[in-house]
Amino acid sequence: MKIKQFSRLQGELPVPGDKSISHRAVMFGSLAQGTTRITHFLEGADCLSTISCFRKMGIHIERFGDEVLIHGKGLHGLSEPHSVLDVGNSGTTTRLISGILAGQRFSCELNGDASIQSRPMKRIITPLTLMGGAISSIRGNDCAPLAICGKRLHGIDYASPVASAQVKSCVLLAGLYADGPTSVTEPALSRDHTERMLRAFGAEVFSEGNTASILPAPALCGMEIPVPGDISSAAYFLAAGLLVPESEILLTNVGINPTRDGMLRVCQAMGGSLTLLNERISGGEPVADILVKASSLHGTVVEGDIIPTLIDEVPMIAILGAFAQGETIIRDAAELKVKESDRIAVMVENLSKMGADIEGTPDGMIIRGGRPLHGAVIDSHKDHRIAMSFAVAAQACEGEVEILDGECVNISYPEFYRDLYSLGE
Ligand code: S3P
Repeated sequence: MKIKQFSRLQGELPVPGDKSISHRAVMFGSLAQGTTRITHFLEGADCLSTISCFRKMGIHIERFGDEVLIHGKGLHGLSEPHSVLDVGNSGTTTRLISGILAGQRFSCELNGDASIQSRPMKRIITPLTLMGGAISSIRGNDCAPLAICGKRLHGIDYASPVASAQVKSCVLLAGLYADGPTSVTEPALSRDHTERMLRAFGAEVFSEGNTASILPAPALCGMEIPVPGDISSAAYFLAAGLLVPESEILLTNVGINPTRDGMLRVCQAMGGSLTLLNERISGGEPVADILVKASSLHGTVVEGDIIPTLIDEVPMIAILGAFAQGETIIRDAAELKVKESDRIAVMVENLSKMGADIEGTPDGMIIRGGRPLHGAVIDSHKDHRIAMSFAVAAQACEGEVEILDGECVNISYPEFYRDLYSLGE
């Protein structure tokens, strides 16, 4: 796919609904009593995989564009699926649903695409097994396909070796079905949408520092969920607005949860002009409008506890680093290697093709910025965040950029190219 290039980007954009929150709304709504109404639901392929899994387990789900009605059947209302649950490309679906399935009264199998079949699942198999769950990797390689046989679960205090909201959420969801309290402590705090939303559904969830805990729930109660715009989708336009001369973009209704807002802090540290307007709370999540203006950027160091708050934005940050003056160093981000692609290797491969000075490290990248970048054929490795990041890089380089498998943006942002081009036209 050849990317259209524009000399200036301008206008107002409401970004699509948050992917993490959309997944959780479907899952928790399915386990609740009564109807859950989700508005501004993300109609990306990943969230549709979650819907299809719950439909296969007997949940009636109605879709009216980005409004979704979930007719929940309670914590014990799921029924045994007649075929394999297809999680597609979605790590969030796989890991969160596994926590729920571990505590059911039936067995089932989960599988997804080639990328999912190479992503690590030991990180959920270990704690679920400690809880008394029966979950195994069918090919014995600690990846999907997974076989899960529902069991009576026990509460545990789990020290997770990785800062991962998917692992934390998996264990907390299993904790809903356990015979006592369950807690998860992470090395750094990951996104807390599960804790916030489960609390709103009526579960007893507590957060203290990097520890989240839950009590087994008697019931969850259906509710209204207005999904905020996804800051991970907004990130592409934040970057584009900063990089393309004379640009000015207003992104409306963007989630700015402090466990997700690292990209904003990094852009500001690089000298970017971002202004938060109209800050408010919507559906238990902080949101704001964000005004971004073209800025000259300088390098920065991104490391430590900020990493989980911007983990999906690192490809975009690496590109900002390539256009910034001076050095940008990203460390403590080994998790990038086990995302939809190995994002360290794939960023090094593609940014090098464009003429950037970038070096991969075991847990990040070093980018010596400021060299002019030129067009290239980019291999997205079917990773949506790689494709979108390079469509933005295309706006700031000389020459044409072609992205292989560029339609993979469908995973989290089906209308991405339309929205990008609308700001240029
Ligand atoms: C997500 C958590 C993150 C993130 C992913 C969505 C979630 O993954 O990269 O896109 O919704 O919980 P990890 O938990 O593996 O870090």
